[in-house]
Amino acid sequence: MSGSGRRLAALLWVACSAALAQDPGGAAAPAGAAAAPAKVAICAACHGPDGRATIQLNPILAGQSARYLFLELRDFKAGRRSDPQMSPIAQTLTVDDMHELSNWFAQQQPPRQNYTPDPQRVRLGQAKAAETLCSMCHLGEFKGQNEVPRVAGQNRDYIAKQLRAFKAHTRTNDAGTMTSVAGTLSDADIDNLADYISNL
Ligand code: HEC
Ligand code: HEC
Repeated sequence: MSGSGRRLAALLWVACSAALAQDPGGAAAPAGAAAAPAKVAICAACHGPDGRATIQLNPILAGQSARYLFLELRDFKAGRRSDPQMSPIAQTLTVDDMHELSNWFAQQQPPRQNYTPDPQRVRLGQAKAAETLCSMCHLGEFKGQNEVPRVAGQNRDYIAKQLRAFKAHTRTNDAGTMTSVAGTLSDADIDNLADYISNL
C-alpha cells in the first residue's frame, strides 16, 4: 500500500472507531480511537483526567456540548469571560486547538457524582427548576443542546459558583439569558438547584 493509501485507511479507521465510541451502550472508546490532542495534558491539572474534574469548584468538561466548550474557550481568550486560572490558559490556544479540544472533551464519558445530596434541597431545587422553566433552554434533566450547556451531573460547587456569578453580573458572556434568570434566584434557591442538578 502506498503512503497516502495507508494514511487514508488510518483516517477511515479512526472515523469508524469514533462512530462506535458514540454508541451509548458500547464500552469505552478503544485505545487510540480518537487520539487525544497534545494540549489535553495541560487541562488535566485542573479539569481532571479526560475532563472529569474532581475539584468541586472546577467544571467537568467530559460529555459537555462541543459547541458550548468552543464558545467558552473563545470568550475566555477574548476576555468576555474571565477567571484568574482559566484566562491565561485560553491565551495559549489557537482556534484550531479550541475546536480540537472541544470535540475531544465532548466525546469523553462524564463521571458519576459520588456524594449524597440533601434530599430536602433536591426536592426544593427540582420545584424551583420547574417553576423557572430552566428546561426551556437546557432541555429535560439539564442535558443541554448546542450552545446551551449540559449542567446535569456537573460539580455542585461549580454550578452554585456560576449561578452566583451570573446573579452578581461577574459572568456576562450569556447574551443576557442567565443573568436575568439568576437575578430571580435567592441564595437558598441557588444551593437547592445545585444539589438537584449535580445529581441528575
Ligand atoms: C490552572 C487551572 C486550569 C487549567 C490548567 C485549565 N483550566 Fe479550564 N477552567 C479552570 C477553572 C477554574 C474554570 C472555571 C472558571 C469559572 O469559575 O468561571 C475553567 C473553565 C473552563 C471552561 C468552561 C467550562 C464551562 O462549563 O463553562 C472550559 C471550556 C475550559 N476551562 C477548558 C479548558 C481546557 C481545554 C484546558 C486545557 C487546554 C483548560 N481548561 C485548562 C481552570 C483551569
Ligand atoms: C433562556 C434560556 C435559558 C434559561 C431559561 C436558563 N438557562 Fe442556564 N444557560 C443558558 C445559556 C445560553 C448558557 C450559556 C451561557 C454562555 O454562553 O456562557 C447557560 C448557562 C448556565 C450555567 C453555567 C454552566 C457552565 O457550565 O458554566 C448554569 C449552571 C445554568 N445555566 C443553570 C440554569 C438554571 C438552574 C436555570 C433555571 C433556574 C437556567 N439555567 C435557565 C440558557 C438558559
